[in-house]
Amino acid sequence: MQIEPLKQKYAQLLRDFYAQLRAIHIDQLERKWITISLIVIGLFVGIITIDALFHGVNPPSKVETIDSASLHLNKEFAEDNLGVQVDDKGNVTVRMVAGRYSFFPKHITVPAETTLTFRWVSMDVLHGVHIPMTNMSTMIVPGYVAEITTTFPKPGEYPMLCNEYCGLGHNHMWSNISVIAKENWTAPAKSSAKGGSNNE
Ligand code: CUA
Repeated sequence: MQIEPLKQKYAQLLRDFYAQLRAIHIDQLERKWITISLIVIGLFVGIITIDALFHGVNPPSKVETIDSASLHLNKEFAEDNLGVQVDDKGNVTVRMVAGRYSFFPKHITVPAETTLTFRWVSMDVLHGVHIPMTNMSTMIVPGYVAEITTTFPKPGEYPMLCNEYCGLGHNHMWSNISVIAKENWTAPAKSSAKGGSNNE
């Protein structure tokens, strides 16, 4: 391989490119805006890079797989573990299984103004989950765990709807979430023997 001639060739190409660029007339104002756009792009790319490398922020494609056919044998999503749970550090996690045509458990009670981590899995086909009036919406793809962290600012009754067509009963697929004031909410009992949650 002759590196030198190649280098010279590319250096020449680069020089030609700059020469042509300089030959183009660009208005002062336009030049300013081009610079600003480049700075903004650089800023965004920088933020994404820093978040990815130092804050562990992953794109939604972050992959956590699970065997949908054996959820009942899976420790995390076994029936007794579904619903609302609070760990030793006080983190609230909600585990739910989506299946034609419901979310299980059918009803959960969570505190307002509290960070909640929702973890969903599908037992059969592709489902979606959407809670109107919130920013929460995600797909539940069989074989993967869908995780969303959110907070309900106000107490109230919220429906949880399926928003991916999953079969004839799709429009009857929903659960209810009761969001109650933080001070009135008591953590469900630890799931040592049976249930750990507001299973209903
Ligand atoms: Cu589940 Cu539509």
